[in-house]
Amino acid sequence: MPATDLTQVVILGASGDLTSRKLVPAVYAAQCQHLLPGRCQLVGVARRPWDDAFFRNHLTQSAPKLEACSYDSWEAFLKQTTYVQTHLDTPDDYRALAKRLDELAGEPANRVFYLAVKPELFLTSVENLHAVGLLDQSAGPWRRVVVEKPFGTDLASARVLNKALLGLIGEDQLYRIDHYLGKETVQNIMVFRFRNAMFEPLWNHKYVELVQITVAETVGMEGGRGGYYDTAGAVRDMLGNHVLQLLSLVAMEPPSRMTQKAIRDEKVKVLQDLRLHTDMPEPAKYIVRGQYDGYRAETGVKPESQTETFIATRAFIDNWRWGGVPFLLRTGKHLPARYTSISVQFRMPPHTLFGSYQECHLRPNTLTLRIQPNEGIDLGFEVKEPGAGITIKPAKLAMDYEDYFHKAIPEAYQRLLQDVITGDQSLFLRSDEVEESWRWADDLLKAMQQTPMQSYAKNSWGPSAANDLFGECEGRWTKG
Ligand code: BG6
Repeated sequence: MPATDLTQVVILGASGDLTSRKLVPAVYAAQCQHLLPGRCQLVGVARRPWDDAFFRNHLTQSAPKLEACSYDSWEAFLKQTTYVQTHLDTPDDYRALAKRLDELAGEPANRVFYLAVKPELFLTSVENLHAVGLLDQSAGPWRRVVVEKPFGTDLASARVLNKALLGLIGEDQLYRIDHYLGKETVQNIMVFRFRNAMFEPLWNHKYVELVQITVAETVGMEGGRGGYYDTAGAVRDMLGNHVLQLLSLVAMEPPSRMTQKAIRDEKVKVLQDLRLHTDMPEPAKYIVRGQYDGYRAETGVKPESQTETFIATRAFIDNWRWGGVPFLLRTGKHLPARYTSISVQFRMPPHTLFGSYQECHLRPNTLTLRIQPNEGIDLGFEVKEPGAGITIKPAKLAMDYEDYFHKAIPEAYQRLLQDVITGDQSLFLRSDEVEESWRWADDLLKAMQQTPMQSYAKNSWGPSAANDLFGECEGRWTKG
């Protein structure tokens, strides 16, 4: 029996964008749909001298338009929402916070501390929470901490942060979030692979020629992100986390059961076996980095910045299943479309009966998992065009989520916050997973320094050299 069914979701850094755009709507939607296991109070914590009324008004102004609840209204939800002014680097303020949380609950309560704060404040906040006993679970109710990315800036700093945090709380209390794992279509990767007998027998080097993953964005540095982004770049911001998560779900071995340990163990193994295409002597042959025109003039960006806003690379997974199969990964800002997809390109049949397989454009069997937008799955194959002779034409079977299920796809944060409250860590990164991702990203960042920074026009698909990452007759990017 849980000690209490009351949970306080305490957001540190509550005056920021993430809180109003994603976190509060997620809690509201989960409550509306009766998806939370008990009662819930939302508490915003930040430095600004706001009060409850100001905070509530701020949320109403800045949250996206939310569908009304069937049983409850936004106004009723806001009544249970409070604001506590706290300087997150001032230990004394946490004593006051602890007292206020107790008063608000009026009874024992579970607590989620969501760190929607600058990375420099991750450890300080946890140390301060710990120092006033807010992370102590010995009285019964649980205490969980959610950490946003970036988790460190390289392998060494991620290790230091892991060690320091795990010196204060248990791994079972620490939820390292990657919001891509909360996306409905990302979660479907495992169902698609492991619940259908049809595809998994083909899911290996014998039948798969190449896998490509694209996360393309149309946005740039909107919302004053230039300062942060210029210290991160496309590898740290997207490739080394979101794209690697997609890769590990596509490439992992089936877990023996759907437990958080089994799933995370298998994902870690893929990351351990991931390497760059280092058999090529020149990194420029397997890494293409780019910067969009006008990036250096963005607010917060250094005028001589060498930060990449586009990255594409060719990687391999050195294991029995994937030996020799290239994984082409690409992400960038200011590309022509918002488009995230995974394409599994199958090999040609072993013997030529129709046409010549030397024709390089012939790569008929491709399975594309469309992650966003227009979520769905496409299976490409070839058919005979009706009429005399044999003319072969590409065709596809397509499934669209919204058409099929006639319902909107929930926001990633909603699912992930529900999982924090129910205590399921399957969709959160374990310390070894973060470290293995950094191991690979560090190698990439190092090798990338030996490649030229190429500029690209906004609204283009990045430097054209990204097309040369495909070997002869290996096809091309599914878009662009
Ligand atoms: C964030 C990155 O983690 O993901 C942003 O910091 C990026 O730069 C965003 O724009 C993309 O998320 P989504 O859900 O819009 O694909």
